[in-house]
Amino acid sequence: MAYTVPKLTDYSAAALDRASAELLAALEQDVRKLLFDSGKRSSSHEAAWKLRWEEWKSFRDKWISRKSGVLTQINDVWLKGSPKEAKRPAGQLVNDLRKRVEEEVARAEASLTRSEEEDQRASPGQSFASMDDALRTLEGVDITLPGARRPIGAEHPVMRTMHEIVGVFQRLGYSVAEGPVVETDYYNFEALNFPPDHPARDTQDTLFIAGQQSKPQRERLLLRTHTSPVQIRTMEKMRPPLRIVIPGTVHRNDPPDASHSPMFHQIEGLAVDTNITFGDLKGTLDHAMKALFGSSVKTHFRPSFFPFTEPSAEVFVSCFLCGGSGKRGADPCRPCKQSGWIEVLGCGMVDPNVFEFVKDNGYDPKKVSGFAFGMGVDRLALLKYGVDDLQYFFQGDVRFLQQFG
Ligand code: PHE
Repeated sequence: MAYTVPKLTDYSAAALDRASAELLAALEQDVRKLLFDSGKRSSSHEAAWKLRWEEWKSFRDKWISRKSGVLTQINDVWLKGSPKEAKRPAGQLVNDLRKRVEEEVARAEASLTRSEEEDQRASPGQSFASMDDALRTLEGVDITLPGARRPIGAEHPVMRTMHEIVGVFQRLGYSVAEGPVVETDYYNFEALNFPPDHPARDTQDTLFIAGQQSKPQRERLLLRTHTSPVQIRTMEKMRPPLRIVIPGTVHRNDPPDASHSPMFHQIEGLAVDTNITFGDLKGTLDHAMKALFGSSVKTHFRPSFFPFTEPSAEVFVSCFLCGGSGKRGADPCRPCKQSGWIEVLGCGMVDPNVFEFVKDNGYDPKKVSGFAFGMGVDRLALLKYGVDDLQYFFQGDVRFLQQFG
């Protein structure tokens, strides 16, 4: 933009205002052009960067160069060339304009440098800012400050217990199987020998998916109440012999309290082969309990009932907290309710009726037999870590979880 400092003959307030307005309008136009043109180019290109630098230099020289910049010119032409009586208003005007022009030039530089930095972030390369500028930026940074601490995570106590139990069985040659948490009535109940309306269904207060009344009962979806449906799913896919453990989450309609949660974890076990006996079941579980709780614990089997095992049993281990005495010092042992025994799992020999559902895949109840067991992982984790409220496991409070880090 061609702007030349005009000679002044009229030093009236109105004439000075007009001259000032003209100068500022020219300045504003130059600034806009400078920022607009440089914004159109990517600074990562060296030629563009050079051009930007040239434009900046000529803009700066035009306005504030000591030798011939507009500021020097107005000082020479408007102030020095003014008649005596106009010195005061002319001096005032030149001073005001000097401040304005210097401010505008500084602002333009700042905004050019800023866009330069943005470009640098996108594509490191040539820098408009000089080395000095870079060092000045670093001056605000204390490189001796420690870095941001990133706490290392730890395995959740329930998962740790789960992995430990699964590990014990893997070392016995078991493989790991998994199944869906949203299950059909067929796998969760019917194929496990819970016929529709069988009272044993009442022992597992179930969460059903809503709005399925039009479906046949066996297709209705629910949140699995135990990991046992994966017994059937696995036997449908794999022929005997079979040795699997099934870890997973299960759900029941139990309000949360210190020992209940609507979501919890189980580990299921299933072994099927020819000539599997109750003795194999006892030996396997006795070994597993000793591996988990220490070689001095004793196991104890009590008759029980599950629709999918016959005979069925509940397994107790001698209390590893009080050593089976029911007392801790002078105090009663609470976890075993002073009985000296802690119930840890349910088990039994696979009911022939269950094999009937997968007979076609090699599970003829006349030829194969097997045992199954299922345990609640959360309860075992509570006992193992001496935690007195199950809810701590699921609240995600870092102060609780940190203790396991
Ligand atoms: N599924 C049973 C329950 O959740 C436990 C179990 C598993 C019992 C396998 C026997 C055999 O109560």
